[in-house]
Amino acid sequence: MTELHLWLRHEVRSTERRTPLVPSDARRLVERGVTLTVEESPQRIFPAEEYEAAGCRTAPAGSWVSAPERAVVLGLKELPDQPGELTHDHIFFGHAYKRQPGAEALLGRFAAGGGTLLDLEYLVDDDGRRLAAFGFWAGYLGAALAVLQHRGRLTAPLTPLSKDELDALLRPVAGDEEFTALVIGALGRSGRGARLGFLTAGVEATPWDLAETRALDRPALLAHDVLVNAVLATTPVPPFLREEDLDDPGRRLRTVCDVTVDVGSSLNVLPVYDRTTEWTDPVRRLRKEPPLDLIAIDNLPSLLPRESSADFSSALLPQLLQFETGGPWGRCRDRFHQACRELGIVEGEFRNG
Ligand SMILES: NC(=O)c1ccc[n+]([C@@H]2O[C@H](COP(=O)([O-])OP(=O)(O)OC[C@H]3O[C@@H](n4cnc5c(N)ncnc54)[C@H](O)[C@@H]3O)[C@@H](O)[C@H]2O)c1
Repeated sequence: MTELHLWLRHEVRSTERRTPLVPSDARRLVERGVTLTVEESPQRIFPAEEYEAAGCRTAPAGSWVSAPERAVVLGLKELPDQPGELTHDHIFFGHAYKRQPGAEALLGRFAAGGGTLLDLEYLVDDDGRRLAAFGFWAGYLGAALAVLQHRGRLTAPLTPLSKDELDALLRPVAGDEEFTALVIGALGRSGRGARLGFLTAGVEATPWDLAETRALDRPALLAHDVLVNAVLATTPVPPFLREEDLDDPGRRLRTVCDVTVDVGSSLNVLPVYDRTTEWTDPVRRLRKEPPLDLIAIDNLPSLLPRESSADFSSALLPQLLQFETGGPWGRCRDRFHQACRELGIVEGEFRNG
């Protein structure tokens, strides 16, 4: 009998409707003896009652702070700023291992409380491949928003929708001008999603991956009308776009969607902007004449919360079923300790490590 107690927390970001665990997969965990507490959450796409019907306990939003010490807190995105000391093991996307803004503060909170960040981005198999990721729908949406912006049909604020609604907006209509699109990172999850998003919009995108960027042909890049960047950078490479490229007289490029959003990191391949864009204001104009528009939203799959949650949850479930024995979680733990060391953060007590 497993002693695992998972605590699915409410997401603090009001636009975050996704969940890493959908009710049907929650039921599978409960059936295997996992204690599962689900916080109530006004915006989660699946209501708490569906989890209750699957055998989960429910708790008020944000009550993980007083969860039993051994409970493992499961979420997706950022934690609230308080408490300052984090005492639990937390599974979520911490965005803290590439020296992103706020990384040191977040890891410092874990070190101070003796908790551990098990970062979902670093839940990998023996070959280092990600085991659960939202990439496909992120790429699909990245391409979709870029197409809508390029065709003058993107309206703000963005709101979550169903795939049928999105596809209806994407399909070309009479009078739409043809344009060219480039997807970089085309062989990855997001890249494949982006290519399908473009195809739905009637555009066959040029697919570039590692082989095509090794000796980067910037004029060819700038000759496309629309660019979606979907690379997963692990070592620094020369940027795909620099400030001077935006002023290149040969630039056809008008619309960029950065799905990767490594802004502020030394791995950023698009260092031509310094902050993300948001659902309320999804597009930033980087150049006036000729125009160049940027979309850099870091929670794209939230726009299709049902599809992206189900996809992610089905990949995470087998890993959660092996939480106590699984090598991937051990690697996550090691990666956390390594990140603390790299930032010179001295951990207090390791409860598990
Ligand atoms: N904006 C969002 O909401 C959102 C959501 C999910 C994922 N992401 C991000 O999207 C990125 C891609 O995720 P993924 O799951 O598709 O990763 P992935 O590993 O499946 O694919 C990445 C691809 O990029 C390629 N690549 C790496 N370096 C490259 C280079 N220098 N030139 C060309 N190609 C290169 C790889 O070969 C691979 O095919 C990640 O940074 C991830 O964090 C963003």
